[in-house]
Amino acid sequence: MRDQANPSAATKSARKSTTNDKNLDDLFEHALKDIFYAEKKILKALPKMIKAAQDPDLQEGLESHRMETEGHVSKLEEIFALLGKPPKAVKCEAIEGILSESEEVLQEFGKSKACDAAIIFSGQAVEHYEITRYGSMHAWAISLGMDEAADLLESILNEEKAADEKLSELAESRINFAAEEEDEAAGDVEEAA
Ligand SMILES: [Fe+2]
Ligand SMILES: [Fe+2]
Repeated sequence: MRDQANPSAATKSARKSTTNDKNLDDLFEHALKDIFYAEKKILKALPKMIKAAQDPDLQEGLESHRMETEGHVSKLEEIFALLGKPPKAVKCEAIEGILSESEEVLQEFGKSKACDAAIIFSGQAVEHYEITRYGSMHAWAISLGMDEAADLLESILNEEKAADEKLSELAESRINFAAEEEDEAAGDVEEAA
């Protein structure tokens, strides 16, 4: 409570334990390299999901987000340029994990009626990951007075949020029901047998 009322006291006590001179600029640059890696990985993973999708609207939504993702890579390159640095990727373990799980799920459910629900399940994990990263980076860019970068990050963040909402709409309007219908039919067969 005392620290909240007196942020400079909190900062001073935090500074006591620092062991190097890394700061928010460095953290921003690290996050930029990390999300740059992630976006490029996502671009490679999306075609497989698009091909596997059964619902035409899901397929179209994923394809349009694939094109937006190409724009995200370009916008990140613009931010590197604003920093006066060449675009560089740093391996992001989080997206590696999300995408390798997504492949496993697709292998298990890709040929089932739950295929589209499984694609949305993985797709939303990706979008939520991106939303957390772009949310932090957008706030940091504002704190660092990087207005142009903040605008670029906000525009990406808005597209990630819209993509996530589109997936929720598709899931809740029909895809989850379609996946459930198959389960019920299979259940009926089992009961009859
Ligand atoms: Fe993205
Ligand atoms: Fe995305």
